[in-house]
Amino acid sequence: MTSRNKSRNRNGDPEEMEGGGATAPAAPPPAPHPAVAPLAFLLGKWRGEGEGSFPTISPFRYGEELLFSHHPSKPVISYTQRTWKAASGEPMHAESGYWRPRPDGSVEVVISQSTGLAEVQKGSFDAEKKTVTLQSELVGNASKVKQITRAFQLVDGELSYVVQMATITTSLQPHLKALLKKI
Ligand code: HEM
Repeated sequence: MTSRNKSRNRNGDPEEMEGGGATAPAAPPPAPHPAVAPLAFLLGKWRGEGEGSFPTISPFRYGEELLFSHHPSKPVISYTQRTWKAASGEPMHAESGYWRPRPDGSVEVVISQSTGLAEVQKGSFDAEKKTVTLQSELVGNASKVKQITRAFQLVDGELSYVVQMATITTSLQPHLKALLKKI
């Protein structure tokens, strides 16, 4: 802060802001769009660690950040994910998309991956249990992947997920598991 913005209070101590230094309490976040409210438990930024595996590859550990953001005027959640090698921090896979919850408890998700793969996922959520399960309806521009499922669960404030995939050589089984905390 520049000295131009500093003032002194009645004790002569410098203050960061003019106007007595009293800080107004932060306004509560606006209520989400009614369509998004049942999935409000996802909203925010999450960070954690995961492990990847598949019968055809060596297991690996990764760090991950997820951001579920939302504007109260829109019935949609924006989603971005980035991952990095746990040991070195070097970027790995990233993806982004949109989640569209429906009043009947179903949800549609579109995701574009940094590998060029595009997904349309459909599934359901349970607002009480704080779970979401998704299955690919469409996997596009993929040379090996035939099917993808994603299952999310919030337990004791921690978000966990399992991503499974089926490829041209391998039946549906886990590729990713992670546990994230809200930051
Ligand atoms: C739905 C999301 C994802 C899909 C569909 C996907 C798909 C694949 C496929 C098809 C393979 C090759 C398997 C084979 O050759 O049999 C693979 C390998 C791999 N994936 Fe993923 N992946 C996903 C997410 C991720 C993420 C988030 C990471 C990193 C955090 C990751 C890291 C890797 C690594 C390290 C390999 C092994 C590569 C190698 O050994 O050359 N994947 N993935």
